[in-house]
Amino acid sequence: MKIGIYPGSFDPVTIGHRNIIRRAAGIFDRLIVCVMVNAAKNPMFTLEERVDFLRRVTADLPNVEVDAFDGLLAEYARAKGNCVIVKGLRAGSDFEYEFQMALINRKINPGLDTMFLTAEHQYTYLSSSTVKELGEYDVDLSDFLPEQIISDFKKRIATIRQGGKRQ
Ligand code: PNS
Repeated sequence: MKIGIYPGSFDPVTIGHRNIIRRAAGIFDRLIVCVMVNAAKNPMFTLEERVDFLRRVTADLPNVEVDAFDGLLAEYARAKGNCVIVKGLRAGSDFEYEFQMALINRKINPGLDTMFLTAEHQYTYLSSSTVKELGEYDVDLSDFLPEQIISDFKKRIATIRQGGKRQ
């Protein structure tokens, strides 16, 4: 059985991520969406919250499971066995970073392949960072975030506005 691992920060999961998850779930027997730490990012939601959001958003996909891991992706993949990493590519600007990550992961775990799915054109502009910025304004978020998480996302933005913690 071939396992796909779709890693990311998912802070929070967007409809662009959901699109990649659905397509990858159609390719692999089993897809693990794994919330991981990106050392360059300061997340708004805890790992547990991001896992909870993803579980709600993927509840209708029987071969998708959601996990979290705070170590190296290459080691996570080694522990899972026969798997391929899946990443979404939005634009050329993603490519250089993703290419480097794929090579680093393969260096640590020889034979580990990374497969890239191109984003649907209507999602190429979309990122968790832009959604967090939009959240500061009175914008309808249904074109950006899955409906299952919009209210929790807005609550967190309101808490931060009132001087509360990011997570
Ligand atoms: O959604 P993101 O932030 O682009 O995802 C990046 C992520 C979390 C997949 C990447 O930072 C990652 O693989 N983190 C785990 C630690 C790791 O293996 N880093 C790569 C070697 S430097």
